[in-house]
Amino acid sequence: METTTTTFFDLVRADLEKVEARMRQGPGGHHPQLNDAIEHLLSSGGKRLRPILVLLTCGMLGADCDESITLAAAVEMLHTATLVHDDLIDGSLLRRGYPTLNAKLSLGATVLTGDYIFARAAYLASVIGSKALMRIFSRTLMTIVNGEISQLFGTQDDDPRQEYFDRIYAKTASLFEVSCEGAALLSGCDNEVVTTMKSFGYNVGIAFQIVDDILDFVSDQERVGKPVANDLRQGLITLPTLCYLESNLEDGSLREKLLHRELDDETIECLIEDIRTSGATDQALEQANQFISTAKKLLMDMPSNPEREGLYELADYVVQRTI
Ligand code: IPE
Ligand code: IPE
Ligand code: MG
Ligand code: MG
Repeated sequence: METTTTTFFDLVRADLEKVEARMRQGPGGHHPQLNDAIEHLLSSGGKRLRPILVLLTCGMLGADCDESITLAAAVEMLHTATLVHDDLIDGSLLRRGYPTLNAKLSLGATVLTGDYIFARAAYLASVIGSKALMRIFSRTLMTIVNGEISQLFGTQDDDPRQEYFDRIYAKTASLFEVSCEGAALLSGCDNEVVTTMKSFGYNVGIAFQIVDDILDFVSDQERVGKPVANDLRQGLITLPTLCYLESNLEDGSLREKLLHRELDDETIECLIEDIRTSGATDQALEQANQFISTAKKLLMDMPSNPEREGLYELADYVVQRTI
């Protein structure tokens, strides 16, 4: 994993091991199939960015260490559950270089395993015993599902950029946001600090999904460990495509055809290549950089300590990463 060489990872390495153990601590007495599936998912790796955000924010603001670990485990469990269902919906057979659950299990078993992991995430969050935290955690879960549903059915928005940013907030940035907001809540700091850290998580999360959407065009399956060039094939218009459509001054018909999946496979492949070789992915990256720059400015008012430096680094990593 690329993050192993970075200082921000070193800062949380020991606590992250505790997070891994906590995610595996089930109540027991459940079907072995569930444990096998969870072990498969947790041992397949992943960048662990969301729990790292929790741990760094908690460390920066002086939250209780044990509660920080539980919250970090809860958000990573929630992330894991969303991936199980996302891969099922997308028909993706590879994740983190390994077969997805839907590649190995029946549809029913995959849905139920995802449900179980959602419940484990909620259980972990509830152990902390904060009503305010539970409220934002469950609201985020509703927001994510709403984002995935909006992606599936499409929305009526006349403004494609607004539609894109609303969707990526819901499906991705909301979880980054709650990771930082929840961590700040645990620290018992002023509302102002909670709001600032919430906004930091939002900006990092939006940049993160923009980069994911860029990597879908410019990376390869071996590197990212999941299928690429998939979004457009599935009729999903992301920021690189929007930048491409805008700079080609097209009259809207191409966008309509993409949305309604009226283009044949050969035309789609040519379009993917055109987008890849145009300046569209650079334009999208420029936007991601702007969100990261906003995020970093928000950290200026936070306590100056190694964890804050770690958050600066994490923010840079989000736009520099290649996986
Ligand atoms: C993948 O997230 C899903 C998105 C929101 C794009 P990550 O890229 O953080 O996935 P892992 O956990 O590192 O595999
Ligand atoms: C996934 O977004 C977001 C959630 C899991 C909620 P993507 O569909 O872009 O993620 P990848 O590319 O499959 O990892
Ligand atoms: Mg997906
Ligand atoms: Mg993606």
